Amino acid sequence: MRSLIDIQQLSVEEIDELIAKANDIIAHPEAYREKCKYKKLATLFFEPSTRTRLSFEAAMYELGGQVLGFSEAQSSSAAKGESVSDTVRVVSGYADIIAMRHPKEGAPLVASMAATVPVINAGDGGHLHPTQTLTDLLTISREKGRLDNLTIGFCGDLKFGRTVHSLIAAMARYENVKFALISPAELKLPSYIKKEILQEKKLEYIQTTDLSSVMPQLDILYMTRVQRERFFNEEDYLRLKDSYILTPQKLENARSDLSILHPLPRVNEISTAIDSDPRACYFKQALYGKYIRMALIMKLLEVE
Ligand code: NCD
Repeated sequence: MRSLIDIQQLSVEEIDELIAKANDIIAHPEAYREKCKYKKLATLFFEPSTRTRLSFEAAMYELGGQVLGFSEAQSSSAAKGESVSDTVRVVSGYADIIAMRHPKEGAPLVASMAATVPVINAGDGGHLHPTQTLTDLLTISREKGRLDNLTIGFCGDLKFGRTVHSLIAAMARYENVKFALISPAELKLPSYIKKEILQEKKLEYIQTTDLSSVMPQLDILYMTRVQRERFFNEEDYLRLKDSYILTPQKLENARSDLSILHPLPRVNEISTAIDSDPRACYFKQALYGKYIRMALIMKLLEVE
């Protein structure tokens, strides 16, 4: 029985297999329609979500399985003071696999220790989001045909953006990937990630506040939302929220084969005028999230 809490628990080979499986599902969806018949997925979401929860649920339905769960802490016994451990211990008797999102960093890890079925971290506070990373890797590999020899720019809230933390950890394992970290000074990538991943592996990276200075070098631009819910005060959020708004003008010095990714939801950091640009990949990316989650559910349930 295996859980997925941190993307680094998967080897590069396993990630490649998941990507290959997702590509096969996209090509032959009918072959997968009964793979998880009689299996149940529980989605325990203690924090808001649209894509992650619904793509998990759609993934399980498309595999022929069933879904139960809750989408807010208020409607669960957490509101009565139940611990995460007790909740998942009980839910382990109702479902074959659990996807959990929680505002507290580490909650899904704690859950995985109490559960008797696999637990998938669907986002824990400002920490990690491994299934978004699998989504991002599938998108990059389909757009670029490779996951190595790439320059990737991360722009926006690199401090609280859990999708950024997990994707950097994953991309760091491929050959010759260079990183540009673009954020306001207050929202820089946490130093533990810089130290433990970028510096430890001696990877090439630059840190800047100026998007236009790095734009011409980028193969991928990963935009993110300023994570309002993680701020201690609203004034800081209001001051920082419009730091980067991607407009067609700002793409003037970008490469013609740039891929623009965003985990979504978008607030205002990408102008809607960019949606029709062929370089915009974020809606495709959200769709790919369903297929890679189908591949992951099958892997963790050991379904062949
Ligand atoms: C992200 C998240 O929840 O961290 N959304 C998602 O899962 N697609 C990004 C965000 O909320 O900004």
